[in-house]
Amino acid sequence: MRILTGLQASGKLHVGNYFGAMKPAVELQQQGEGFYFIADYHAMTSRHDAVALKENIREVAIDFLACGLDPEKSVFFRQSAVPEVNELAWILSTVCPMPLLAKCHSYKDKVSQGISPNHALYAYPVLMAADILLYDSQKVPVGKDQKQHLEVTRSLATKLNEAYGEGTAVMPEAIIKEETELIIGLDGRKMSKSYDNTLPIFGEEKQLRKLVMKIVTDSTPVEDPKPTENSTIIALYQLFASEADLASMISDHQRGGCGYGDFKKRLADAYWDYFSEMRKRREEIIKDPGYVDQVLTNGANRAREEAAKVLGRIRRAVGLA
Ligand code: ADP
Ligand code: TRP
Repeated sequence: MRILTGLQASGKLHVGNYFGAMKPAVELQQQGEGFYFIADYHAMTSRHDAVALKENIREVAIDFLACGLDPEKSVFFRQSAVPEVNELAWILSTVCPMPLLAKCHSYKDKVSQGISPNHALYAYPVLMAADILLYDSQKVPVGKDQKQHLEVTRSLATKLNEAYGEGTAVMPEAIIKEETELIIGLDGRKMSKSYDNTLPIFGEEKQLRKLVMKIVTDSTPVEDPKPTENSTIIALYQLFASEADLASMISDHQRGGCGYGDFKKRLADAYWDYFSEMRKRREEIIKDPGYVDQVLTNGANRAREEAAKVLGRIRRAVGLA
């Protein structure tokens, strides 16, 4: 089984990325061959800063490895190290109806946040479809925000097969875990780099604890019972805490007598402890600067081999070869 996912190189990875995409991807390494990549071409659709891009690519690589991506089991590479993906994106563009892209929420959201409405941003889902179809991917672990992009990918696979024969493209399937499909951020909205409401996976302890203290709560007095429904603190705490600790957090809310400051401190402790092993691994990885480059070079070679095979098949099917 071929599993594939991509993470944009657009800033520090956060708890939403971890539970929505990285953790499932790491777990699926036991069940098949993972193809995991850093979506650097995609990152260029919303920001034009060469220095930041280079830095972010490296950060994402280090963080994903620290979080359990095993380069012995999975193929880890940069999207741009396999330029064949652009050719497949072009082929898919030729069967992609404009209205399919016109209805994509992600484009509209990004433009409403002030990102320039360039062609690449509009065609983003076509490149994403190419990422997936280029490796005959079967399972694609992602968060809920990517569901529509997976639907576009499936439509394009169908169109290609209708135009050029069954088997030209392999039909992929999204893996979206209900419990972690949408992790909420400090302000109660979806956790996202673009809302500046994230809990990063890695960082300085003091800063990370400060972020937890920024969580928006209501003004229930310390003595009174606190609502447990729609509580950002509880929603985040359940990701990190044991069942017993979660149960006492909930009963302490219901009973009253504990303040939000205390709850946030418990959350900050659990969040900090949860990533401690990964933090240690990260320290090790950073000590050997050549290691990450080596992993990405090996990954790119393996990914290109596979891409050449699949693209060869598609080129023959469409009459280019
Ligand atoms: P961001 O929204 O912060 O820019 P990306 O778009 O780079 O994050 O997302 C990378 C992966 O992480 C995708 O699979 C996406 O669905 C997942 N993801 C991002 N934010 C969340 C979230 N808040 N909850 C669940 N999954 C998320
Ligand atoms: N669009 C994805 C995101 O913003 C990143 C991505 C690019 C991706 N290509 C992909 C995810 C292919 C899964 C499969 O998170």
